[in-house]
Amino acid sequence: MNVASIIQFKNVTKRFGNNPPVLDNVSFTLERGKFYTLLGPSGCGKTTILRLIAGFTEPSEGEIWFNGQKINHLPANKRQVNTVFQDYALFPHLNVFENVAFGLRIKKVKKTEIEAKVKQALSFVNLDGYEYREIREMSGGQRQRVAIARAIVNKPEMILLDEPLSALDLKLRTEMQYELRELQRRLGITFVFVTHDQEEALAMSDEIFVINNGKIQQSGTPTDIYDEPINRFVADFIGESNIVEGKMVEDYLVEFVGKKFECDDKGFNANEPVEIVIRPEDLEITTPELGRLQVRVDSQLFRGVHYEICCYDKDDNEWLVHSTKKAKVGKEIGLSFDREAIHVMRLGETEEEFDRRLETYADKGDSAQWKVN
Ligand SMILES: Nc1ncnc2c1ncn2[C@@H]1O[C@H](COP(=O)(O)OP(=O)(O)OP(=O)(O)O)[C@@H](O)[C@H]1O
Ligand SMILES: [Mg+2]
Repeated sequence: MNVASIIQFKNVTKRFGNNPPVLDNVSFTLERGKFYTLLGPSGCGKTTILRLIAGFTEPSEGEIWFNGQKINHLPANKRQVNTVFQDYALFPHLNVFENVAFGLRIKKVKKTEIEAKVKQALSFVNLDGYEYREIREMSGGQRQRVAIARAIVNKPEMILLDEPLSALDLKLRTEMQYELRELQRRLGITFVFVTHDQEEALAMSDEIFVINNGKIQQSGTPTDIYDEPINRFVADFIGESNIVEGKMVEDYLVEFVGKKFECDDKGFNANEPVEIVIRPEDLEITTPELGRLQVRVDSQLFRGVHYEICCYDKDDNEWLVHSTKKAKVGKEIGLSFDREAIHVMRLGETEEEFDRRLETYADKGDSAQWKVN
């Protein structure tokens, strides 16, 4: 086992009743001391993954390992994991100190030790001096901090946070993003953070898991995921993107909107159908003659830092452009972009399926073509 690994899911499937599985043969490894984010639409199984890690539910199939030990049946209170729930789940009849001290009291920790630990935990979340406040006298952001203090007071090896910021307004939310990230760095504990907000995931994580249809579609650093989305779902979910259908003519040559373009991708069958993604900020406005694509400007919005310009090509594909330059609605313009701006994606393939295919490709040597499933 990898020494840095703290949690491993091995072919985990989770079913409720006769419904299709919520998690379908999912495998991944989380390393010690990193900030992970589970990102995906509502109902994709994010909370279910946290509940499996925390021990509130068991997998239908597969194994969960913690620190090199299989823990499928280990009860929640025996796991070195604490959870911060979306609604914080604080005790309204207890003050701040007692909320944070609760778990320690149950464990019959010595009184002086409790005092010291609670004080330190509150200090970590910038709530020094709030010990004797009632919960109902605390603001949303402060309650959030109490919940985090309660989760870290016992120095668990891992903290699970289920959309902890979703109840906060935008400004406070951004502030708490910084604070949480900083807290994780200082504590060095593994954080698993759940959100369905892609910007939040990009801003905070060492590594993101994008989940949909019971599968991890892709995992990687924020830049990996943003720059090299593996399929349409990921490209669509992470940031705004232009996605068009095309085909891989041969290695390093792709065709879309009736034109051929050189690209950095290889390893497809000849003329394999693919999807192309180009980010709006990678498109530059120019004259129709100089542009690699010719489009008509349909509408335009000022977004504060840039204009968001919506255009259509002759095939009626929509092209979104982020530009500091203004365009004229109704006018024909050209769009230029670099070779690196073209990202070629497999049709609906997850990262795992893609990797399997890549291995086959590598086995056969670079000249072999891949098998389409
Ligand atoms: N105890 C349960 N019994 C039956 N179905 C369940 C149970 N818990 C979760 N589910 C189903 O599993 C799926 C995934 O639920 P989960 O709570 O993990 O989603 P999520 O990604 O956290 O969504 P959200 O973003 O809305 O919180 C949903 O379809 C949900 O209805
Ligand atoms: Mg949830």
